[in-house]
Amino acid sequence: MSDDSRPSPPAGQPGTSVAAVIPAAGRGVRLGPGAPKALRTLGGTPMLVHAVRAMAASRAVSLVVVVAPPDGAAEVKSLLDAHALPGGTPGGSWGRTDFLVVPGGESRQESVRLGLEALPPGHDIVLVHDAARPLVPVDTVDAVIEAVREGAPAVVPALPLADTVKQVEPAAAPGEPEPVVATPDRALLRAVQTPQGFDRATLVRAHATVTDNVTDDASMVEQLGERVVAVPGHEEAFKVTRPLDLVLAEAVLARRRLNDGY
Ligand code: CTP
Ligand code: MG
Repeated sequence: MSDDSRPSPPAGQPGTSVAAVIPAAGRGVRLGPGAPKALRTLGGTPMLVHAVRAMAASRAVSLVVVVAPPDGAAEVKSLLDAHALPGGTPGGSWGRTDFLVVPGGESRQESVRLGLEALPPGHDIVLVHDAARPLVPVDTVDAVIEAVREGAPAVVPALPLADTVKQVEPAAAPGEPEPVVATPDRALLRAVQTPQGFDRATLVRAHATVTDNVTDDASMVEQLGERVVAVPGHEEAFKVTRPLDLVLAEAVLARRRLNDGY
């Protein structure tokens, strides 16, 4: 029986086409001097290539939009062409998955918006995935897509915290002692990862409406008052942020290569 009270079937159809936007325009200041973070290599392959493969690994993902450093779109396009499989579309393709490259902006938020603007019609579910999370397993990607297909307008992969978290009054100068204000109950907190998954229309509306600077896309949807749900994340979906994270990422890759010839 059809249910006409539902809006157009944003996410509901099993065959709904999924696009992934990969913001990769950051410089990677916290990683230290060197190439833009997304172009730094892990196991000899640029982090961005790992991230695109991680999205293309999901059978549901038919398009990946990579948001490149503002002056680096041509370089990123040839890098992806060099790693792509032959026989694709003129835009470039990775097996079943096409890709596009667009220049990014000053903030992550602006980069994601530019990626969304480049999305052709026909993809009703959008994933937003940090290039800086190159090793997310395909099962996590599919779990996020599944939850959107089941009707959630926004889905985040999330993990419980290992550390206790304190709220403080931030010090005026770095290194000064900071008064502790509160200790939130750790059992109620989650650390969220990407890919975050969205009903496309909801995410576009969030980016058109919310102007506060935010660090993830789901929080913009929260500000619209829409429902956001968390599904289990994965420890290998960690973000490469500081130099020690590169050591961990290399170790994860080495273990995968030993285990399954990845
Ligand atoms: N990003 C982006 N455009 C920006 C800033 C960030 O597309 N103007 C992307 C990054 O490339 C990264 C993701 O957003 O894939 C998450 O950001 P983060 O880990 O903070 O990366 P960087 O901003 O590059 O790192 P840093 O903050 O240390 O400079
Ligand atoms: Mg940043």
